[in-house]
Amino acid sequence: MTTRIFIPCDASALSVGADEVAAAVRGELAARKLDATIVRNGSRGLFWLEPLVEVETPAGRVAYGPVAASEVASLFDANFLAGAEHPRRLGDIAKHPYLASQQRLTFARCGITDPLSIAEYEAHGGLKGLRRALDMAPAAIVEEVTQSGLRGRGGAGFPTGIKWKTVLGVQAPQKYIVCNADEGDSGTFADRMIMEGDPFLLIEGMAIAGLAVGATKGFVYIRSEYPHAFAQMNRAIAIARETGLLGADLLGSGKSFDMETRLGAGAYICGEETSLLESLEGKRGQIRFKPPLPAIEGLFGQPTVINNLITFASVPTIMAEGGKFYAEFGMGRSRGTMPIQLAGNVRQGGLIERAFGLTLREIVEEFGGGTASGRPVRAVQVGGPLGSYWPTGLFDVPFDYEAFAQRGGMVGHGGVVVFDDTVDLARQARFAFEFCAIESCGKCTPCRIGAVRGKETVEKIIAGTAPAENMELVRDLCEVMRDGSLCALGGLTPMPVMSAIEHFPEDFVRAPRHAAAE
Ligand SMILES: Cc1cc2nc3c(=O)[nH]c(=O)nc-3n(C[C@H](O)[C@H](O)[C@H](O)COP(=O)(O)O)c2cc1C
Ligand code: SF4
Repeated sequence: MTTRIFIPCDASALSVGADEVAAAVRGELAARKLDATIVRNGSRGLFWLEPLVEVETPAGRVAYGPVAASEVASLFDANFLAGAEHPRRLGDIAKHPYLASQQRLTFARCGITDPLSIAEYEAHGGLKGLRRALDMAPAAIVEEVTQSGLRGRGGAGFPTGIKWKTVLGVQAPQKYIVCNADEGDSGTFADRMIMEGDPFLLIEGMAIAGLAVGATKGFVYIRSEYPHAFAQMNRAIAIARETGLLGADLLGSGKSFDMETRLGAGAYICGEETSLLESLEGKRGQIRFKPPLPAIEGLFGQPTVINNLITFASVPTIMAEGGKFYAEFGMGRSRGTMPIQLAGNVRQGGLIERAFGLTLREIVEEFGGGTASGRPVRAVQVGGPLGSYWPTGLFDVPFDYEAFAQRGGMVGHGGVVVFDDTVDLARQARFAFEFCAIESCGKCTPCRIGAVRGKETVEKIIAGTAPAENMELVRDLCEVMRDGSLCALGGLTPMPVMSAIEHFPEDFVRAPRHAAAE
């Protein structure tokens, strides 16, 4: 077998020159008449080390990173194909503290295997869950998922087993499985990493969901900003069809499931499940009234399981190892592992999969290594643009749905965005309203009008105009938006605003120090 060189095709690696590195490696191989195979793997999720090049040697995989195209010749000169010394040599990346302390169940293969090789997928534990599910009755699959304690990873944390049970219980000529890969939250990329780095995992998870509820057709709704993920998913689906992992005869079982991708419409609201279904049906992304729940009347009016991508991607492990095994990870009612995505002003941004219970301090200080700017950390925003801002004084709160909710925050999709001490939380509060105003679907008044008025009022506070009165107005407005909005876009916008006011009041009362509007 020829030596294999792994160069990620993940968008994070591409953005810092992975294609150029791959071209340079190809060029050097040809010029030096050396025999080696380049595998475009996914990312291991240590973004500050991308492009991370790994070589398979008899002594194991040896990593080098971050590698620039201009350094490739020197790697060959140093005999990196044999894993030799070089200033960029990192050794066995699996032993890097960032990875060694993780508990990778969902991301077990990401960055390790060739994403488009079913043989490798299976050799590394893939398809075990699906094979088991194919021999089980639908209700037994649902029971296994219920036992695992899995809750939706898209934001609301709703128990997945209950959702699936509802769909299973409805009689209908056609049911659907819809994967929400709109991944609109700031600082999040877990969905993308799976689509680019281990796409068969999603296919397996959705096929299991289909078997569990009696659905034969699935759709993956992928945000339009993810062209690489979209292309990779399409390639993986085509391979899955050719090899019987999708289609009328799933792995020779006689059971059927097929799926397609759809490109998103470029709006944050299209990530909300009912807007997403509207968008999938070719309409404008706007909230539907609930009830009926999508589980009863979803896509094209049929019973539909709609879950986040990571929710589906968690299922193959649950089916392979058992719901009990998965439930052993975590704390309280937050069972299993959570892929935490660390981004913003942070030295070591990336993907951290660990059982629930990790503290924000461990995430930001130990994994993240502090800010990229080198200045002190002042705040993090967790759970996307609608999540709360956390001061360092609360960094010992464990990553857990209930612990976060108790302190007025949310886990969301697991995005953690770091800010240093130059952040102005009054401006962030203004931004929260502005974001809501731009992304509002316009269906209800508290959100459509409230967001605009909120932005204007915070601007007055920033300008020092009647700050006490305007602060009272903002509090009042937040209450109306929280209680009166039709969906969580308007309903949760108060969360970043009020957390900023609560934890960083000094940013709202100082004499005017900024221009009113940008
Ligand atoms: C404004 C808004 C945006 C949302 N965006 C996303 C998203 O990008 N991805 C996602 O999975 N869920 C998103 N959600 C949550 C979905 O509505 C829904 O709860 C989720 O798809 C259910 O899957 P889960 O139970 O697996 O989390 C959003 C919700 C709201 C209110
Ligand atoms: S809160 Fe109302 S206007 Fe805002 S996005 Fe939701 S339904 Fe649309």
